[in-house]
Amino acid sequence: MTTPAKTENELALSPEARGFQHVATVEEIPTDRGFRVKIENKYIAIFKVDQKIYAINALCPHAGAFLDMGYMDKHSVICPMHGWDFDVRSGESPTYGISTSCYETFVEGDAVYVKP
Ligand code: FES
Repeated sequence: MTTPAKTENELALSPEARGFQHVATVEEIPTDRGFRVKIENKYIAIFKVDQKIYAINALCPHAGAFLDMGYMDKHSVICPMHGWDFDVRSGESPTYGISTSCYETFVEGDAVYVKP
């Protein structure tokens, strides 16, 4: 038995049609650190806080450490190399006044998507 082809409307509304890429399941994203993916030569760190999913540039703007390896303090990830903090909701560092890129996320069922 074959699966019926998706209609044009279904394709237009799919996450992929809107520029998202499937990166993980919700269960794969830890709560005590991030989950790193590489999309289109970008390292993206995905975080789960209070069951919501956020994505920021995985490379710390200070000296390039992987932020997904940092530890979490509520909505902030603390860089494992020198301790700069970044709010995963905005990419901003409330302490150091700089920011890093954020990426739009989307969850459908158990599937986590990111728009790189
Ligand atoms: S590399 Fe992240 S704070 Fe220095």
